[in-house]
Amino acid sequence: MKDHQTISGAVHHDRQHDSAIKHVTGRAEYTDDIAEPYGTLHAYLGVSTVAHANIRSIDLSAVRAARGVVDVLTADDIPGVNDISPTGKHDEPVFPTEKVEFHGQPMFAVIAETRDAARRAAELAEVDYELLPHALDPVQAQEAGYPMITDPLKLERGDVEAGRKGAPHRIQAQMTVGGQDHMYLEGHIAFAIPGEDEDVTVHCSTQHPSEAQHMVAHVLGVANNAVTVNVRRMGGGFGGKESQMNLFCAVAAIAAKKHNRPVKIRPDRDQDMTATGKRHDFVIDYDVAFDDAGRIQAVEGGFAARCGYSSDLSGPVTDRALFHADNAYFYPNVLLKSRPMKTNTVSNTAFRGFGGPQGVVAAERMIEEIAYALGKDPLDVRKANFYGEDGRDLTPYHQKVEDNILDRLIGELEENAKYRKRREEIIAFNKESKIIKKGIALTPVKFGISFTATWYNQAGSLIHVYNDGSIHLNHGGTEMGQGLNTKVAQVVADAFQVDFERIKITKTTTEKVPNTSATAASSGSDLNGMAALDAAEQIIARLTKFAAEKYEVSEAEVEFLPNRVRVGSEEIPFDTLVKEAYMARVHLSAAGFYKTPEIHWDRAAGKGQPFFYYAYGASCSEVSVDTLTGEYRVERTDILHDVGRSLNPVLDKGQVEGAFIQGMGWLTTEELWWDGEGRLRTHAPSTYKIPLASDRPRIFNTQLAQWSVNKKRTIKRSKAVGEPPFMLGISVFEALSMAVASTADYKVCPRLDAPATPERVLMAIETLKGQG
Ligand code: MTE
Ligand code: HPA
Ligand code: MOS
Repeated sequence: MKDHQTISGAVHHDRQHDSAIKHVTGRAEYTDDIAEPYGTLHAYLGVSTVAHANIRSIDLSAVRAARGVVDVLTADDIPGVNDISPTGKHDEPVFPTEKVEFHGQPMFAVIAETRDAARRAAELAEVDYELLPHALDPVQAQEAGYPMITDPLKLERGDVEAGRKGAPHRIQAQMTVGGQDHMYLEGHIAFAIPGEDEDVTVHCSTQHPSEAQHMVAHVLGVANNAVTVNVRRMGGGFGGKESQMNLFCAVAAIAAKKHNRPVKIRPDRDQDMTATGKRHDFVIDYDVAFDDAGRIQAVEGGFAARCGYSSDLSGPVTDRALFHADNAYFYPNVLLKSRPMKTNTVSNTAFRGFGGPQGVVAAERMIEEIAYALGKDPLDVRKANFYGEDGRDLTPYHQKVEDNILDRLIGELEENAKYRKRREEIIAFNKESKIIKKGIALTPVKFGISFTATWYNQAGSLIHVYNDGSIHLNHGGTEMGQGLNTKVAQVVADAFQVDFERIKITKTTTEKVPNTSATAASSGSDLNGMAALDAAEQIIARLTKFAAEKYEVSEAEVEFLPNRVRVGSEEIPFDTLVKEAYMARVHLSAAGFYKTPEIHWDRAAGKGQPFFYYAYGASCSEVSVDTLTGEYRVERTDILHDVGRSLNPVLDKGQVEGAFIQGMGWLTTEELWWDGEGRLRTHAPSTYKIPLASDRPRIFNTQLAQWSVNKKRTIKRSKAVGEPPFMLGISVFEALSMAVASTADYKVCPRLDAPATPERVLMAIETLKGQG
């Protein structure tokens, strides 16, 4: 097709985020920017000051008497059900009535004329606690006989015992992998405006408006149709707003209905960090058997996770850890078990990768163990174990890997990054350099795309074409900075062949598309792009039929060209045809729908095809470590990542770079630390260190695999991009490990837990001293 025959910048082209200018000029509207109607009240949470206790009594009189306080909400004020568990397990009260189960657990909410008044008054409660023993991490919890918070998963294939017998080498070890705070720029916030009868509208910052709607209805004891939830955009979610907004929406809505006044709740950063869930940290036991060539024969893995006091999404998160404990490698015999442990900590939740990264880290650690045990380059061990042809293509969950492109991807990155040559140079450098040691690692990622809760893989959209030819686009996905709205609008612009600017991107609202899934599992554009395309195609079909009838040509002679429509030999401007269609009473609005085909999953059997396809990527990082202090920096990172045929390369590159940095932060400097009382001491940016701009790799090359096309019929043959590149950060971790190992002449695989903070790196070096 000639250039002038397709609209420019629609799909497969760079286009800046539709709100980019608004973001950087401060004009993008977030929930807290919505003008507050007269009479708006403000809520703040009062929280537990102990980790585990029976509540003997709560005296709220000082709170109620404080200046500006209008009311205090407790469990008694909940007209419906006191539960906001996202999986219907009924283990997550809005406010507890009998006991508190973690330090910082919300117990009541102060409603006041100002936020400051509410916040000050929230400190004044007198609670009589009967202290109970607490368990903070999965090991303590196991020792204390705590239950698993949800059913564990087992994945099994082949015969681990037999595999081990035939293998000359075996390594058994344990690793801990830390959690992570989401550190979105915009924290949690909900703003409820009461309506007539039972109605309430809640503006908030959630990845899952439908669930917030259903939860609010549930706690108010009203039907879902009385509640509307709106999200224009989030200032970041990263999984932290998949389920955690339910509490804030519930509090704002209960108060708004009780007082018939608008109510807003916005915790400060410390409360956001202590009262809402984070990435699950894991204690992983692995037992790997392998042959002299480094080929894995059998793997047994136990994945214990700190889930917190309630189940939240811990079931699917720990499931996904097992689904990714193979990463890119074929395990001929395998047995993997999850241990989702209840603990007296905040209930952990979704975070970019959703448990997958914890599984992948374990796989990569096993590879490193093998490499050091055999004195091989870890990249050779990786290659020896990649999924391959028939017989070496079955995952531990019995899905076939049919779209493997790792050989090509890794080959190209190895070449472009000059991995082999640089590794030799680094080994030579380390021989000479006494204090500064370097390391390099090239690690792959394979990530399964689809919600493992199969019913979540559906989406809806609503498109209106107004009679002036302008287009209103709505879909069930939410915008959190990832560029979903831009991509979906590009798909619609391409379908109608109109300028992108003609399309109005609108807020997500439960009024337009019902029963949506969370914007999560990286599936936002896969699902909503398809649903929007479905709606656009319905309207296009009606316009085509209308034009063919009116101008007496066949439908095949109607063609949508840029901003115009060819009808036979005539070309009509798009808006003119729309106006004519309207006058002829053609329906110019459509609801679209999509559900992912082919997938199925039998959890009890541990078998099925949970993923529609896989996204792949690889990264190569070089670090230098100061062996006197443990401090380090990333000298260079090269990335080659697979997004299929990119819907928007510049946005995808942004996702890849951002995810890499976030993944690197998780494994290096971001450390969550609870004291013995169960108090989170890393509760603000002052004590919790995310990567800064100055921490990025000194040389940072990111490329998309231009040649990759999704074999499956996804939206324009693209692939999901949101989460997979998070795991590219693992190359930094393994490069640090190599730098540490150099201090003992690479003879021992360093015992390095994540995050590899400078202290941990230093301790690992000290441990190795004399072992070379
Ligand atoms: N990018 C930005 N800028 N902000 C975010 O909050 N969340 C990530 C990823 N990229 C996030 C982001 C997570 S956890 C997911 S699941 C996906 O975006 C969700 O969006 P998508 O499905 O549209 O890619
Ligand atoms: N990923 C992200 N969020 C989810 C999933 C998943 O697989 N399942 C339920 N919520
Ligand atoms: Mo992303 S953790 O699936 O919101």
